Amino acid sequence: MATRTLIVVSILIALGSASAADSKNNPADELVGVINQNRTAHKSSTLADNPGLACLALQYIKAYDGNCDDVAGSDAKKPAETAFAETFAPNCGVEVSTLGQISGRLLACQSKYAEPAEAFSNVLFENGKSLSILYNKNHTEVGVGIQGTDGGGPYFWCVLFSSGNPNTSFQLQGGTAIKQRPGCYSGTNDPCSAATRSRLSSSLTVTGFSLLALVVASIFVN
Ligand SMILES: *[C@@H]1O[C@H](CO)[C@@H](O)[C@H](O)[C@H]1NC(C)=O
Ligand SMILES: *[C@@H]1O[C@H](CO)[C@@H](O)[C@H](O)[C@H]1NC(C)=O
Ligand SMILES: *[C@@H]1O[C@H](CO)[C@@H](O)[C@H](O)[C@H]1NC(C)=O
Repeated sequence: MATRTLIVVSILIALGSASAADSKNNPADELVGVINQNRTAHKSSTLADNPGLACLALQYIKAYDGNCDDVAGSDAKKPAETAFAETFAPNCGVEVSTLGQISGRLLACQSKYAEPAEAFSNVLFENGKSLSILYNKNHTEVGVGIQGTDGGGPYFWCVLFSSGNPNTSFQLQGGTAIKQRPGCYSGTNDPCSAATRSRLSSSLTVTGFSLLALVVASIFVN
């Protein structure tokens, strides 16, 4: 009996270190992959992953300052449209003159981390309204930002769609975005430090505290 317990414990440790090793990947890039797979299956075009747009998505999240309650519901807040040009773009090093039209946006927040495929189907695109945003024919490009604040949550996902020309919109001064920490954004192949923490804490949540991890998912759709 004692041996069996030990084996179970070491399997759990092995699983834990496997997921830590995985975390070199960028979950924001993975989420763009899931979005494009799903769009392609629905005969919609593949969207370009634009790092300038994605950096703005992470800035959009940062405007909420970790406050999940501000994302949806009667007290929902929304950054001013002028924030794109006045704060988000300068913080990212995106040239303001190249800002494209935002053709759709989704923002979600919950207390528990979700892997990209799960975030896609259970957090972001679980209802008809957000699916109609996903399949909108006007989109040509996408950018994803993900953030889990220090201490393991709440976790924020922001997907910005644009109808701009991927070759010329959301251009980065000097070709690379100004680094944003904590958090990840797509289009950079940049390993994401926040994801390391979130994956570790998510496996702890799964093994130990799944009943306590009350989901407070909320979605703001525009
Ligand atoms: C696309 O995503 C939606 C929402 O999660 C899901 O219902 C649908 O089955 C997916 N389609 C494919 C082909 O994976
Ligand atoms: C696509 O863009 C056109 C022009 O801006 C707009 O009139 C139309 O409503 C958009 N279509 C969708 C599905 O959002
Ligand atoms: C973007 O650039 C590529 C390669 O130069 C070109 O093939 C493509 O047509 C351009 N796309 C648009 C929308 O201008």
